[in-house]
Amino acid sequence: MRAVVWKGPGKVSVDEVQDPRVERATDVVVRITTAGICGSDLHMYEGRTAAQPGVVMGHENMGVIEEVGSAVQQLRKGDRVVLPFNVSCGTCFNCTRGYTSACLVANDDAAGAAYGYVGMGPYKGGQAELLRVPWGEANCIKLPGTPGDELEDDFLLLSDIFPTGYHAAQMANVQPGSTVAVFGAGPVGLLAAYSAMLRGAAEVYVVDAIPERLKKAEQIGAIAVDFRKGPPAEQIRNLRLQNPLVRGAMRRGEEKMAGVMCGIDAVGYQAKDFADPSQEDHTSVTEQLAEVVNPTGALGIIGVFLPQDPGGKGQAAKHGEYQLPWGKLWEKGVQLGMGQTPVKHYSLVLRDLIIAGRAKPSFIVSRHIPLADAPDAYQKFDRREPGYTKVLIRPAEQVATPL
Ligand SMILES: NC(=O)c1ccc[n+]([C@@H]2O[C@H](COP(=O)([O-])OP(=O)(O)OC[C@H]3O[C@@H](n4cnc5c(N)ncnc54)[C@H](O)[C@@H]3O)[C@@H](O)[C@H]2O)c1
Ligand SMILES: [Zn+2]
Ligand SMILES: [Zn+2]
Repeated sequence: MRAVVWKGPGKVSVDEVQDPRVERATDVVVRITTAGICGSDLHMYEGRTAAQPGVVMGHENMGVIEEVGSAVQQLRKGDRVVLPFNVSCGTCFNCTRGYTSACLVANDDAAGAAYGYVGMGPYKGGQAELLRVPWGEANCIKLPGTPGDELEDDFLLLSDIFPTGYHAAQMANVQPGSTVAVFGAGPVGLLAAYSAMLRGAAEVYVVDAIPERLKKAEQIGAIAVDFRKGPPAEQIRNLRLQNPLVRGAMRRGEEKMAGVMCGIDAVGYQAKDFADPSQEDHTSVTEQLAEVVNPTGALGIIGVFLPQDPGGKGQAAKHGEYQLPWGKLWEKGVQLGMGQTPVKHYSLVLRDLIIAGRAKPSFIVSRHIPLADAPDAYQKFDRREPGYTKVLIRPAEQVATPL
């Protein structure tokens, strides 16, 4: 079969690789109908991880079951399924408690596994024609409808970034009436903002500097904040204080709460320097979140930070160590959440919101491509070029399909 293979920094190619097959009785093999390219793939693409050449890429996968192992009872050939990016056994101490992101069995080297990702176990990715899914019963979310129907893109986003955006909102304690600041208007940030609204947030600010992405944020009812116009925390505080309705509802002393109750980092360790976006400043977002979050607020750090970063600025950053405004966060009594999303914890309820027509996360999808175009799409997505906010691969197709 053909698959997208990582060759080295800035280079992926579409290669012939061995077809996956049922290796264990609990396996399932899925014929991929759609696979997403993710901001997380770019960390590997750019050489900002410890990946070795040869990785078959892709952790955002869906398709139709082609083959089931002899121990698989509840799934059949022909079932339409989406695969949470976490590979999990379904029965260990952590999986049983819902933390499939920290499965103790799927990866010998750490807690947690994924398809097509360095350090996340031996599993191949799904930017390919076929994918082996271990512990098939635990790792397949069953879907209604037929491949390629009008919900295909919405369902694909259940593999990672819709649950990830929702998890960020959960960690940031977003509730009805909440005020929220989301840093990053990439696919994850946009779906975090969207999830905040699904959860009933009152005001959602989205910070970035890419006009196409900020426009998407506005389209869903968020307030765009362009970080090129000044420190985002100050901009948000001013926007709130200058709003006569917000100001008019404040009692004496409440201007101390002119920031937001909920903050989300949807950028991670490759955060850009606000003053010079051609440079990275690993802690720029964390610092601004500490500034903008109100006393007693909460932060969800969903953007990735890694213990090894060959491109980190300085020795400490190369080992994932950063200087942070810990005192300010402590003084404010802020709750912090971070880490990988336990996708399966959310995928059924979010799937059912999609089925009921109450959620349509595919508004972020900007392009569909055949497998052969993946190398070009990686390059353009990496440069954050217009039209490449969220690219979905359709491995069975030969030419790009219009949106
Ligand atoms: N925790 C998880 O399980 C999980 C899952 C999926 C993705 N992620 C991570 O989420 C992050 C975002 O993913 P994505 O697909 O949206 O990627 P992306 O790279 O497309 O989006 C990041 C956005 O952040 C913006 N940005 C950069 N520096 C900024 C700054 N200082 N302030 C505000 N915005 C800034 C960029 O312009 C870009 O639009 C990545 O780190 C990705 O690895 C985490
Ligand atoms: Zn992803
Ligand atoms: Zn497990």
